[in-house]
Amino acid sequence: MKYHDMLARLGVANAHPGGGNLSAVWMNRVSVPDGAEVLDLGCGNGATACAMAKRWSCQVTALDIRSKMLENTRRRARREGVAVRTVPGSAEALPFPDHQFDLVVCESVLVFVRLPRALAEIARVLKPNGRVVDVEMMTLRPVTPEWREGVRRIYGVEHVPDLSGWRSSFQAAGFACKVLRSGPIQRLEMSDNQRDDEVADQHALSDPQVLQLIEANGRWLEANHQTMGYGVFLLNVANSPT
Ligand SMILES: C[S@@+](CC[C@H](N)C(=O)[O-])C[C@H]1O[C@@H](n2cnc3c(N)ncnc32)[C@H](O)[C@@H]1O
Repeated sequence: MKYHDMLARLGVANAHPGGGNLSAVWMNRVSVPDGAEVLDLGCGNGATACAMAKRWSCQVTALDIRSKMLENTRRRARREGVAVRTVPGSAEALPFPDHQFDLVVCESVLVFVRLPRALAEIARVLKPNGRVVDVEMMTLRPVTPEWREGVRRIYGVEHVPDLSGWRSSFQAAGFACKVLRSGPIQRLEMSDNQRDDEVADQHALSDPQVLQLIEANGRWLEANHQTMGYGVFLLNVANSPT
């Protein structure tokens, strides 16, 4: 079982560094005009998509590669009484025309995909003055081959960039990058990143594969928290006003 399938079966909300707290931090820093088109790319179980639909008078589209995540997002949106359009698809080949979105939000997604492809796709679907908010894990110090192997085994991630690695990938894709926040993951207070009983698969917690992954994830985080950091990046197409 893959890590994201476990998150889908448990209906984990805000499965990114800092959880809903950190989402609230960046939401306070961006302005979203009425009627704006917003994409939550890799929406997971839909907590941020619903929060944005509640907070702003915008059109929210939530995209994910997993149908279970989209189903959970629809359930959450119904429960919260907000309108969120769900679209299946991959970050690496977005099923949207050019220049559709004013804001693209990625919370702990780009580290899992082929970054240059996904960034080129995001640049393509953004309006000329559009913005991207990206919340990602990053490494804070050089890592060992064993560390890399652990990240690959548990999360299916080939490479976790450090701050300068993220910056150079954004720059190579034509984005200017402002770091809204960064630091060690251990200093973040996690919030609202709990299992959502209403969307969770009721049998998930009796599945040995799910339990094994929860345990492996917990052990890995405890052993490696000093190496792990996070960054909240605000991107815009270079040469457009920030
Ligand atoms: C760590 S979860 C974060 C989910 C959500 N953004 C959140 O903060 O709760 C990563 C999400 O990215 C999705 N994902 C992984 N690869 C993807 C891809 N190539 N295209 C779109 N979504 C993808 C997974 O299905 C999962 O929902």
